[in-house]
Amino acid sequence: MATSKPSKEKRTAPSDDSLSAWSGFYKKHVFERQQILARVRGLDEDDVALLNKEGPLPLSTADTITENVIGTFALPFSVAPYFLVNGKEYAVPMVIEEPSVVAAASNAAKMAREKGGFITKYSGSIMTGQIQIMKVADAKAAASKLTLEREAVLAEAREVGKFLEVFGGSVQGMAARSAIGPTGPMLIVEFTVDVKDAMGANMVNTIMERMAPLLEKRTGGKARLRILTNLSMNRIVSASACWSAQSLGGEEAVDAILDAWAFAMADPFRRATHHKGIMNGMDAVALATGNDWRAVEAGAHSYAAIKGASITTYRKNADGDLEGTITLPLAVGTVGGSMKANPCAALGQKILGAKSSEELAGVMASVGLAQNLADLKALSTEGIQAGHMRLHARHIAAVAGANPQELDRVVEWMSANKKVDANGAKEALAELRSK
Ligand code: MEV
Repeated sequence: MATSKPSKEKRTAPSDDSLSAWSGFYKKHVFERQQILARVRGLDEDDVALLNKEGPLPLSTADTITENVIGTFALPFSVAPYFLVNGKEYAVPMVIEEPSVVAAASNAAKMAREKGGFITKYSGSIMTGQIQIMKVADAKAAASKLTLEREAVLAEAREVGKFLEVFGGSVQGMAARSAIGPTGPMLIVEFTVDVKDAMGANMVNTIMERMAPLLEKRTGGKARLRILTNLSMNRIVSASACWSAQSLGGEEAVDAILDAWAFAMADPFRRATHHKGIMNGMDAVALATGNDWRAVEAGAHSYAAIKGASITTYRKNADGDLEGTITLPLAVGTVGGSMKANPCAALGQKILGAKSSEELAGVMASVGLAQNLADLKALSTEGIQAGHMRLHARHIAAVAGANPQELDRVVEWMSANKKVDANGAKEALAELRSK
């Protein structure tokens, strides 16, 4: 049975008055929501105008995608060219606010071309769904019983998952096991499902929800959770590339990158940041193509946690060049809901031009590897701040009013005079324009 110490913190419910403004908020029109928000949070006319500014995602469409929509939120939409993956050229769409990420990915991709670019492998689009069953008399025995009844259970799952057939998907396998948690023993039943070119969460979850009552009947237990796992161990992608020692800056640079990678292999604190950098690139592609980047993150970090190692590996080959590989679970699709709903996601897919989950996953993994290589190279040589500061300086110069022809000279002036801030940009502009 679950036990927990009683909390000593005193909690008091606020008066209902503080909630009244939000009553029925979700049912209101977007404009009404904006007015409520303006009242409650003191937004002025300009704030509301910003919320109403039409971008590529119409407000009315946004309102059908999530709840309580008050506007749309824009981020830079970039492209990283030079990716050569399995012999095909890609300009990879990326949506990210962090400076240097796109430049780093395309630089690493460009350098990888000399040795043939990226080569990828994919295990297939197999997702796994889980059903948790509680209150079975003997969870271990129930798992063995279900294992014996596997073919019959699978037949039921195939029946409830018949809708997969339209696009060639299918329920593939079933496994049952027992586990013990803080509330007692449980039975865990897992189904593997081939979701083809979809991310597949909705399909898998539908099948799990339909299977749950059938499993309750078979086991006499109570089904609780019926949901996919984001640790999709049957949907693994890997990408490899080779960078010549010369392109990286020589033998010492190769050794420095290997040491930087070794740090991530040896230490979980470094590993967290190492993977954050990889996800900078992969999330940006996920976002640009309408994929669920949280699912991508969850899978990658859980995979790294159970391996207790970096998801990238590097070695120096016989020629002294650097070979790198990334391997991770990756559930991304080229078809599905958000790709249709968000015109920017559809455009991202069009720019990338991947025809299948396999192709998209291969490119995303390549971006992750490129990103990691670029990060390790920068970190083990000049550090990453120099690149960040260059972009930061451009941004400051633009905000200060520099036009595109003036930008480079303003940035040069600011860094030469060690005044990389708003005042420096103004001073630089005044001086340049006075000449
Ligand atoms: C910053 O967003 C990402 C890095 O910290 C990744 C890394 O340390 O490997 C540069």
